[in-house]
This record gives sequence, structure tokens and C-alpha cells, in this order.
Amino acid sequence: EAKTDGRRYLQAEALYLPGEMAVEEGETLWTPRLYASYSAHGLNGMSQQFHRYLRANIIRFPENKPRPVHLNTWEGIYFNHDPEYIMRMADEAASLGVERFIIDDGWFKGRNDDHAALGDWYLDEQKYPNGLTPVINHVKDLGMEFGIWVEPEMINPNSDLCRAHPDWVLALPGYEQATGRHQWVLNLNIPAAFDYLLERMSWLLGEHQVDYVKWDMNRELVQPGHNGKAAADAQTRQFYRLLDILGERFPHVEFESCSSGGGRIDYEVLTRCHRFWASDNNDALERNTIQRGMSYFFPPEVMGAHIGHHKCHATFRQHSIAFRGLTALFGHMGLELDPLAVDEQEREGYRHYAALHKQWREVIHHGTQWRVDMPDSTTLAQGIVSADQRQGLFIVSQMAMPDYTLMMPLRMPGLAANARYRITLLDHPNIRLTGEGGHTMRKLPAWMETPQTVSGEWLMQAGLALPVLDPETAILIGVERV
Ligand code: DGJ
Repeated sequence: EAKTDGRRYLQAEALYLPGEMAVEEGETLWTPRLYASYSAHGLNGMSQQFHRYLRANIIRFPENKPRPVHLNTWEGIYFNHDPEYIMRMADEAASLGVERFIIDDGWFKGRNDDHAALGDWYLDEQKYPNGLTPVINHVKDLGMEFGIWVEPEMINPNSDLCRAHPDWVLALPGYEQATGRHQWVLNLNIPAAFDYLLERMSWLLGEHQVDYVKWDMNRELVQPGHNGKAAADAQTRQFYRLLDILGERFPHVEFESCSSGGGRIDYEVLTRCHRFWASDNNDALERNTIQRGMSYFFPPEVMGAHIGHHKCHATFRQHSIAFRGLTALFGHMGLELDPLAVDEQEREGYRHYAALHKQWREVIHHGTQWRVDMPDSTTLAQGIVSADQRQGLFIVSQMAMPDYTLMMPLRMPGLAANARYRITLLDHPNIRLTGEGGHTMRKLPAWMETPQTVSGEWLMQAGLALPVLDPETAILIGVERV
């Protein structure tokens, strides 16, 4: 902010609720940590510092292995769980190159829609008469890891848990709690409530071969109270304690911080989890800006990015498999769909982009990320360059009809100036030229037709000429040092 005399200042604080904190004489209060970064190299410099810091100090994967490609069942089957069908989905997923199969919401007792059952963390034996184990074994036999969805901090008024313990709701006396998505929050400061969750989660993770937990949290803390006092901070600390204990008991298990999308994406929870779900808006066009926003603070390996349905469930927009595949490429990739309910061409697309992601994931998940400024505001470009500057992967996404008739060149930052690079066109839309029923004023740059080798300096300073792209298409370019 600017003071009246022109000096700039910055202030930061923990956002406590009124009356939430009272420090007695001699007592210490630990506020949340504040992370700050200064860079003389713009926002890319800032992001790269944050990414480096997180990789060195915060992100801890239980095993040092590549981030497995996911299939998450949510948008594929929602609450409609049939183990036989799920196992067929798993067969198909494995054949597409999926490495981790996750059963989303709908597996526990009475959970047939989102009006009921949160809190009742017992298997729905009507849906799964033989238990979860046959499905898990099937997934594992196919060579995939198994993951499952939970939302432990929540309680539906319509649940056995709420009927038994109506006083376990996080609330202040005299304030009538509204529901959000038909649910309230469970007060984790009540030891019996905490222990109940710990016992149920330990049952889930201890009695089943679970490798991964998608931990959701779909309601804000509204007037959260414990013993008549505001308790948002206390609630959050209990949530951390729960995750810490589970992490100690089940050290091989990875956790995703979900929260209906981006609601709980921060550095503190990242000391305990391994992936974020960036948004339930899985429209590839919108994901471009969502993911770009996230990249300011978080590296690609912790950002879940899924290929969704041809017709997006959030917006009903339709996108080609190429645009969806390329958009999901630059994160921790997954599929968010039912692979049995699509045609072979779609499936081939999933297979292709999963394979492309695996081919480049070492660079994507360990390299240096660059957002590239383009003069046309309808074009988004970014790239990732390996730490040794031997490989770089760049994408140009056209969000809307271009403002200008010609594309400006793509400069590729982060390469080694004195090295020579081979340019490879990895993926491009079907660009129709004049005379083929296409647009006027189109000509493909020479490098798209004849492979070229050029200097890093040239790529960084002059850049690569680009074809004019249609809205909602993208082009992927790889560079490799020769
Ligand atoms: C919200 C999440 O963001 C979705 O991915 C899905 O897990 C639903 N909750 C399930 O209720």
C-alpha cells in the first residue's frame, strides 16, 4: 500500500476471528507462517524461487517415483457405484496407461447423492456386497495403485453420525448454522469426534491396500465455534493433527488436498499432502487461466490436471481431445471420465496424451517453468526447461479469436544461449490453409515442415514464428540440445 507521504509499505497478518486468540502473560502464540519472495526478474523469477523453495523444503513424496497418471471416477460415474462396472473401468484405464485408479465419492453407507451420509464412514454394503477388497485387488493386479475419496471434516444433518451426536457440529451458540452443499462441519476439537475420525480413517487405510486418499472439504467455516469461542484456527490445527497422525501411521499413503477445487491450496497443507485439485471447473479453456494462476505459487507436479469429457460437465463447452490433452499435460496428469462410455477415437486420444505426458514428465515435474508474455492477449504461452537446459517443452494456447492477423514469434526463455537445439513439432491442430476450405492469410512457418536446428540465443531472443491458431486449439513444441 502507499502511505500519504508516498512511501510504500506491506503488512501481513493472521486472519483470526474476533476474540479467537487471547495470549496470557508468558504465553507464546504461533501464527501461521508467512512466505515472501523478492525477485528482480519479474513474476517468473518470483515463481521460480517459490517453486525451488517448495521442492527443497516443503514437498515430500513418500517415495521418489514419477507422479502416476490418474483416473478419478467422479465425473465418470458420480454416485453410481457398481463394483463390476468399476473393475471394467479399471481394465480400460490400465490399457490407456493409467497408473493410479481412484474411487471418488459414493462408496460409503447411504451416499447416493450429496444430501446424506457424510460422517458415516462405513462401506455401503448394498453397493459393495463383497467389500472393497476385490476391487482393490483387481486394480492392483492390473499394475495400478489404488486411491479413495473421503471428506472427513464434514457431516450431513442426514447421517447416522449427526443423529447420534448433534452436538459435534462446529458452531457458536445462538447462531443457526446454515448448510452448504447440505452439510455442516464436524468440530474436531471435541476429542470423541476427533477419535472417531481417526478410528474410521485408520480402518479405511489399515484394512485396505490404499495408496492414495483424495481428501475433500466442501464447506466454508461459518461462525465456527468451540466452547462458545471462535475456533477456525483451532479447527485447522486439529485437521493438521489428524493428517499428521495418519501420515505417521500410513507413511506410504499420498494425500490430495481437494476442497471442491481450489479451496485449500496453501504451503502449510502442502507439508502434509502431495497434490491439489485446482478446480471442479474442468473446461480446458478455463483450465488454461486457472492453471496459469496456480503456477505463480505452485510447481506443476502438485497440480492435478485432468482430461475431462468431450462436453465439459461444468460449462457444457466442447473441446477436441487435443486441446484437452495438451491442457492437462503440464500438471500431474489424470483422466476425469468413464473410459468405457466413449468411442475409440477419444480413447486413443487419452492413450496418446498419457504417453506424451509420461515421455515429458521428468522435465515437467522437475524443470523450470516460464510463463511467456505474448503481445496478443488471446494467446497464452508457457514452457518448462530441464534443469540442465538440455530439453524444453513449450505450449501456445489460443484462447479466443486472435486480436491480430499475425502471431508474434514465440520466445523460449531459459535455454542455454550458446547451445544448439533441435526443434520438434510435437502436437498441432489441423491447420487449414487457404484453398483447402481454410482461412485466408495463412502460411505455415518453415520449421513446421522441415526440422531445424538453431541456437539457444536465437530461440530466446528472436523466437520461433508461429502459425495463426484457431480459438481453443494449442500447439506443442519440444526443443532438445544437440
Ligand atoms: C468436490 C470435488 O472437487 C470433486 O472432485 C468430487 O470429489 C466431489 N467433491 C465429490 O463429492
